[in-house]
Amino acid sequence: NKNYRIAVLPGDGTGPEVIREALKALNAVAEKEAFKVEEVHYDLGGERYLRTGEILPESVLEELRTFDAILLGAIGHPDVKPGILEKGLLLELRFQLDQYINLRPVILYPGVDTPLKDKGPEDINFVVVRENTEGLYAGSGGILRKGTLHEVAVQESINTRMGVERCLRFAFDYCRRRNQRKKLTLCGKTNVLTYAFDLWQRVFNLIAEEYTDITTDYAHVDATCMWMVKNPEWFDVIVTDNMFGDIITDLGAMIQGGMGIAAGGNINPEGVSMFEPIGGSAPKYTGKNIINPMAAIGAAQMMLEHLGEGSAAGRMEAAIRKVVVEDLKSLSAGHMGYSTSEVGDLVADYISKSA
Ligand code: IPM
Ligand code: MN
Repeated sequence: NKNYRIAVLPGDGTGPEVIREALKALNAVAEKEAFKVEEVHYDLGGERYLRTGEILPESVLEELRTFDAILLGAIGHPDVKPGILEKGLLLELRFQLDQYINLRPVILYPGVDTPLKDKGPEDINFVVVRENTEGLYAGSGGILRKGTLHEVAVQESINTRMGVERCLRFAFDYCRRRNQRKKLTLCGKTNVLTYAFDLWQRVFNLIAEEYTDITTDYAHVDATCMWMVKNPEWFDVIVTDNMFGDIITDLGAMIQGGMGIAAGGNINPEGVSMFEPIGGSAPKYTGKNIINPMAAIGAAQMMLEHLGEGSAAGRMEAAIRKVVVEDLKSLSAGHMGYSTSEVGDLVADYISKSA
């Protein structure tokens, strides 16, 4: 029997509440599938930072490198200046663990409300492959003459051949494995960001020659936003840089029913990957037991898929689908018809009773 060592980082705000439910579902599925999950919890996040000044101690980072995967709740605390925890913890983990892919499915389940009228589950079913270690997130740049009227703020987008290529290769492979419409769209801005996306486009075209079974396409990022709203059925897999991927996946989350269901994986195919609901710490809902844990449960499901537990992932997906479709009144916090923990119970019960 397999034994998976999972580092659990509940984090800030509603993170701990949703992670508790994800673990409930994970343990229910582990029991069914006869593998073991060993959880090691870490209290990284805003509270610890405010208490001790520590964000991500070197020793903790070294421990994290030894796990099979990481399950993360949310990072961001109202009493901590924006950027400190995001850069010091979330982005630091992505960079240090070289999780160079951020995989974000945009899937509308039947019966879920989408703001797109006349669009249904058959139209909204695609995956965004977001580069996760470079671009504008690399932290390159600086401020000159700070505080003066002549101040200059420079924020550079770093795009390396290696970083772009490994992201594109992942996207082509993923598109092939996903085996749906086998269409890969590069999302960029070749008409303005002529250095960065010239590199992306050239490497994309080069790799495409190796994947003759994949149909390739290109869309500017602004047009991508437009098509995501107007014709989401156009997309199968979208590959893009870090910043554009960040932006279009919030739009993606909204068309799939909201932050309550949007999950993502920070993937290092050769290392330790980290799975998280993409919605953030939602301070205003903290401690109320009303936040939707489905995104965190979906993150756990992606983690199972990543670990190669396909049958367990399938079981979990069926449970998510059933509860979303049949039980929940809405996916929004406070309007689900159930509390956070009740939603977790519904999912776990369904898993436990499944054949
Ligand atoms: C996300 C978040 C993060 C990002 C923030 C919190 C740094 O918005 O995971 O999409 O920009 O990547
Ligand atoms: Mn984001």
